[in-house]
Amino acid sequence: MLMSRVVQLEEGKEIVVTSGRPGLSKVLPSKLLLVLGFFLALTIFFFFISVSTIKYYGITSVVTSVTSSFVPCNDRGNDLDKWIKPPAVLMHNMSDEELLWRASFTPQRKEYPFNRVPKIAFMFLTMGPLPLAPLWERLLKGHEKYYSVYIHSPVSSSAKFPASSVFYRRHIPSQVAEWGRMTMCDAERRLLANALLDISNEFFILLSESCIPLFNFTTIYNYIAKSKHSFMGSFDDPSPYGRGRYHGKMAPEVSIEQWRKGSQWFEINRELAVSVVKDTLYYPKFKEFCTPACYVDEHYFPTMLTIEKPAALANRTLTWVDWSRGGAHPATYGAQDINEEFFARIIKGDNCTYNGRYTSMCSLFARKFSPSALEALIQIAPKILST
Ligand SMILES: *[C@@H]1O[C@H](CO)[C@@H](O)[C@H](O)[C@H]1NC(C)=O
Ligand SMILES: *[C@@H]1O[C@H](CO)[C@@H](O)[C@H](O)[C@H]1NC(C)=O
Ligand SMILES: *[C@@H]1O[C@H](CO)[C@@H](O)[C@H](O)[C@H]1NC(C)=O
Ligand SMILES: *[C@@H]1O[C@H](CO)[C@@H](O)[C@H](O)[C@H]1NC(C)=O
Repeated sequence: MLMSRVVQLEEGKEIVVTSGRPGLSKVLPSKLLLVLGFFLALTIFFFFISVSTIKYYGITSVVTSVTSSFVPCNDRGNDLDKWIKPPAVLMHNMSDEELLWRASFTPQRKEYPFNRVPKIAFMFLTMGPLPLAPLWERLLKGHEKYYSVYIHSPVSSSAKFPASSVFYRRHIPSQVAEWGRMTMCDAERRLLANALLDISNEFFILLSESCIPLFNFTTIYNYIAKSKHSFMGSFDDPSPYGRGRYHGKMAPEVSIEQWRKGSQWFEINRELAVSVVKDTLYYPKFKEFCTPACYVDEHYFPTMLTIEKPAALANRTLTWVDWSRGGAHPATYGAQDINEEFFARIIKGDNCTYNGRYTSMCSLFARKFSPSALEALIQIAPKILST
């Protein structure tokens, strides 16, 4: 202590001397100098104490917040792995507000400094269990590098799937979602936000428990990855079921000319997914002014993306559905409907554009299929999913 005080005194003198007033030290009484030096030593001592305290607690708090959303594979919290490894556990305690904020983080550099294989996030928005799961298992198995799965379901039935399943522990924190209400869009945003936490997810597909795939994985992946557009249904419907649902108070954020309608089942890329989760401009307007009989899940995303990124949209959905039977709900197919002619009609009976060219291959998925159709679908799958 005495030694250090002497050293500090020496330094104190040095400071006084180099401060450009060489005569000062001689003028000052030596006792006063001693006291000044002592205080200087004390100050420096406390400075180092506080700096090391901040360092210690600062680092601790960073580590704590990291572990809440990631499971770090080691203690070196600043490794690149922290940013590029998907969360090992999907369940978390973030509120929607915290989750959407976190999910809106976007790299500003174009190139990824690692070998990024773009993945498709298959996002299942379900009301209950997944009766057609075996079909999806069949589609996805063996393509682990190219996809990830997320399930939003009010019933946490994750325990039902064995560890070998593609659905094993893929449930995200979920809340009740009602058709035609904002809670439905909230659920969709929750799925997108959770899927965005995996930096390798590039394409985001929304599916329901009654959806089935129409092609094999390679075909689906290439169709989506090579498309210049995202597949969001979006059109201007002049009828009472389209423009008729527009509310004048949505202006100026949304005008009636910008008002769009489209199927809820979409495929969007990462850029559009970020637009959706970061939106705070249109969301309050739709929440307040698009309530039944304005079914917000048919209008919010098509309208806001048409305003923000019109050129990025194909304006059509990839999910085939049959409205021909009329009524408020589309047809649901059971076992007796499943045969090759039926699939030939779905797979080749259409006409749409893909990257600016006409094609008959317009849908990659179809709905609605009842649980009773599973057996028949499994039977026909080798022909469908591999051609
Ligand atoms: C969430 O919080 C609960 C109680 O606060 C805790 O038991 C649980 O382990 C937490 N889950 C995660 C994933 O952090
Ligand atoms: C989709 O519609 C928007 C405007 O509503 C338009 O700008 C865009 O070019 C359309 N996309 C395609 C592929 O035609
Ligand atoms: C699709 O429709 C366009 C325009 O309506 C037409 O020119 C084209 O021949 C059609 N393609 C097929 C395969 O029917
Ligand atoms: C997937 O389907 C395509 C045709 O759509 C076919 O050419 C290809 O061989 C199939 N791949 C596998 C692995 O079955």
